[in-house]
Amino acid sequence: MLCPVMSRGAPRPPAVQPLPVLAAIVVIAVLLPGAAESRILLTLHDFGAVGDGVTDDTKAFADAWAAACAAEDDVILNVPAGGNFQIRPLTLAGPCSDDNEIKLLVSGNIVAPESPDEWRHGQRSHWLHFHKVQDLTVTGGGIIDGRGHRWWAQSSCQALPQHPLHHKKNCAVQPAPKALHFEDCEGISVKGITLQNSQQHHLTFTRSSNVEAQYLRVTSPEYSVNTNGVHLVDSYNVHVMDSLISTGDDCVSMVGNCTDVRLRALSCGPGHGISIGTLGVDSSVDYVEKIKIDTLFISNAENGVRIRTTKNGVGGFARKVNFESVVMRNVTNPIIVDQGNSDHLLGSSEAPTAATTAVQVEKINYIDITGTSASKHAIRFSCSDAEPCRHLTLDNVNLTRVDGGKASSYCRKAFGRSIGTVIPESCLSEEDFVQRVAQRSEEDEEED
Ligand SMILES: *[C@@H]1O[C@H](CO)[C@@H](O)[C@H](O)[C@H]1NC(C)=O
Ligand SMILES: *[C@@H]1O[C@H](CO)[C@@H](O)[C@H](O)[C@H]1NC(C)=O
Ligand SMILES: *[C@@H]1O[C@H](CO)[C@@H](O)[C@H](O)[C@H]1NC(C)=O
Repeated sequence: MLCPVMSRGAPRPPAVQPLPVLAAIVVIAVLLPGAAESRILLTLHDFGAVGDGVTDDTKAFADAWAAACAAEDDVILNVPAGGNFQIRPLTLAGPCSDDNEIKLLVSGNIVAPESPDEWRHGQRSHWLHFHKVQDLTVTGGGIIDGRGHRWWAQSSCQALPQHPLHHKKNCAVQPAPKALHFEDCEGISVKGITLQNSQQHHLTFTRSSNVEAQYLRVTSPEYSVNTNGVHLVDSYNVHVMDSLISTGDDCVSMVGNCTDVRLRALSCGPGHGISIGTLGVDSSVDYVEKIKIDTLFISNAENGVRIRTTKNGVGGFARKVNFESVVMRNVTNPIIVDQGNSDHLLGSSEAPTAATTAVQVEKINYIDITGTSASKHAIRFSCSDAEPCRHLTLDNVNLTRVDGGKASSYCRKAFGRSIGTVIPESCLSEEDFVQRVAQRSEEDEEED
């Protein structure tokens, strides 16, 4: 059971005290018609947090989480408005008490240490890490700030020379922490907060399900490194909606085995747009399917909607993906499928080898996609010899060049059809071409 905790060292309340139970844990029983609901209200101050931006409040946060997690009733844990709580890397672990719902009401600011030295070597992959937690809502209008500038500078050796942080010193490439990371979690809702300046990805879900991310503001400078907005790995039934995501890398990305993902009503850019992949990295077999993406506004980004696989993938697929109602403005690659063929175009000295296997890309629909491309190839399907892209549909697409010129489309081993107006003109090969060839050789065999 929870015991009331007085905040230690707090000044004595004035003699005339209208609310004598300040800083105590309040258990409120709310009687609803026909049902009794009791909830426990906690604040970080109850656990000795200072919130001056300088003091290390990690222990207070960890203790508050432990109390919330162990509680027998639903809990609301408040990160108080007006405070800046500096939290070092921390794992907030479950499983918590059966059936208790936890709401983390982030109304103040949670800030990371600025120096990467605060992370121990070998433990640099996380900042705020939730593990094996169920039924958690993170909300409250506050800010979670990764203060990632020094991490980006360390990673900038990967960046191009024109990158503002590019320099050759301190260039030990090391993974930077994921700012807010949910791993092996279920029933997670992240709503109505700001995530900014993350060291690496802002919001990551790994092996998680039944996830909602909504009403978020996710921002980092355009020059920041690997600062994906939302990153999904091996997760299913995920909804990301009604948010602004403006970072230095992907707006939303998904890799591994992700299914039943819904993205809706997002403003993306600058950054690298929506990305499925890279799939098949390090011979992994990734199955991404049933992805519904609609109502996107993507501007000043490197990509609009992208599917990317490695060239030598050993298997797996991206299929049943719907991109619908997307408005692009000044996007370098508005529609792109890249099965690794551009690696050598980008100057790799490795001679292109004929791969015999690849990640399959099929049943991808592009419906009502309009706007402007910053490059000549507004539509680019660069597929593999081993597994040509199949069943691609372009339905009512109108992409023109941002400078007023005419855009064109590029196809390599790409099969499908176009419906309605498609500008630039589709270069997809007719779908039944492959089947006809296969059929003909079967008939030949029968005649033999
Ligand atoms: C995806 O699922 C398949 C089949 O269940 C499995 O073999 C593969 O390892 C999974 N991939 C990842 C990245 O977890
Ligand atoms: C187009 O986007 C790039 C960033 O990708 C930006 O630098 C450039 O200023 C934008 N141009 C226009 C005309 O908005
Ligand atoms: C395509 O978009 C351009 C630029 O927005 C517009 O002028 C043109 O009328 C559109 N074409 C069609 C067929 O909708």
